[in-house]
Amino acid sequence: MASPWVAMVVLVWCAASGGGVAAARPLVGGGGAGGTPKAPLQTSRPFNIAHRGSNGELPEETAAAYMRAIDEGADFIEADVTATKDGHLVCFHDTTLDATTDVADHPEFASRRRTLEVQWTNVTGFFITDFTLAELKTLRSKQRYAFRDRSYNGGESSRIITFDEFIDIAAGAASRVVGIYPEIKNPVFVNRQVRWRDGKKFEDKFVAALKRRGYGGRYMSPAWAARPVFIQSFAPTSLVYAAGLTDSPMVLLVDDTTVRTEDTSQSYDEVTSDEHLDYMREYVVGVGPWKDTDPYAEYDYWINDVGVDGLFTDFPASLRRYQEWTTARRKG
Ligand SMILES: *[C@@H]1O[C@H](CO)[C@@H](O)[C@H](O)[C@H]1NC(C)=O
Repeated sequence: MASPWVAMVVLVWCAASGGGVAAARPLVGGGGAGGTPKAPLQTSRPFNIAHRGSNGELPEETAAAYMRAIDEGADFIEADVTATKDGHLVCFHDTTLDATTDVADHPEFASRRRTLEVQWTNVTGFFITDFTLAELKTLRSKQRYAFRDRSYNGGESSRIITFDEFIDIAAGAASRVVGIYPEIKNPVFVNRQVRWRDGKKFEDKFVAALKRRGYGGRYMSPAWAARPVFIQSFAPTSLVYAAGLTDSPMVLLVDDTTVRTEDTSQSYDEVTSDEHLDYMREYVVGVGPWKDTDPYAEYDYWINDVGVDGLFTDFPASLRRYQEWTTARRKG
């Protein structure tokens, strides 16, 4: 029998920059005001998914990084969604603020530093779940890596944003439909650290936020195409639970095979067994294997040899240029 995954969506991650800093590009956004319908999501090429925004150029998961990604032609903007101490959903990758904000320069928060267990490891730092949204808004974000351009660190548009503000940025793209690709981040940890007064869980709040903004509908349905979304998580039970709340498409993320899931304690080797994937396919439309190697050869491999449905990239402009060149070459 054919693999049950043949018909499924495969989305891979590319850390590749395509070499060098992206050159300035004409804006893809702009126009579309005054009732002009937006151009639909393109479906003729693999999706260009801007990983944490255009984070190769600007501090990750900030308004600046997401707006740049849209200008550069990303089909989807990707975010890690977590929660604050007072229950607001925000876009942020790590459980701690240390690597990508200036929290260490704020003496008023010095006493917040502590150690907690996160996914089978003790982590020490300033946990985002120990801060209110108002406190987080006083911090400035910065580039994670020293080798990347730091000139935008601390900029006015380089602050932590809420999940709603993230949705506003995608919805605000004037001339075309831009999709969102939010991850239910560290759900076991977040549900342990954050309590909502109404007794709801993180996953409930996450799905409710999407539904409030009109996201819903099966993959490629007209409702989905109007507001494209993929919900992703490394935690299989979170996706199964969320699948009971919405018909939006889910993507199961797959880590290194030896890593254990945070919720079921299975290794990703077990998660990707035929038996488990057979079970999960009832709930998810695709899998997202992690991939981390180099530039255009990598795009070529995944797009032309494997035939993936989408690529995650830190450099949406670079992937866009690659797709423009190769499309021209094919027509040529
Ligand atoms: C984390 O630290 C605590 C306190 O020292 C310890 O009891 C616990 O076993 C540690 N957990 C891990 C996963 O290392």
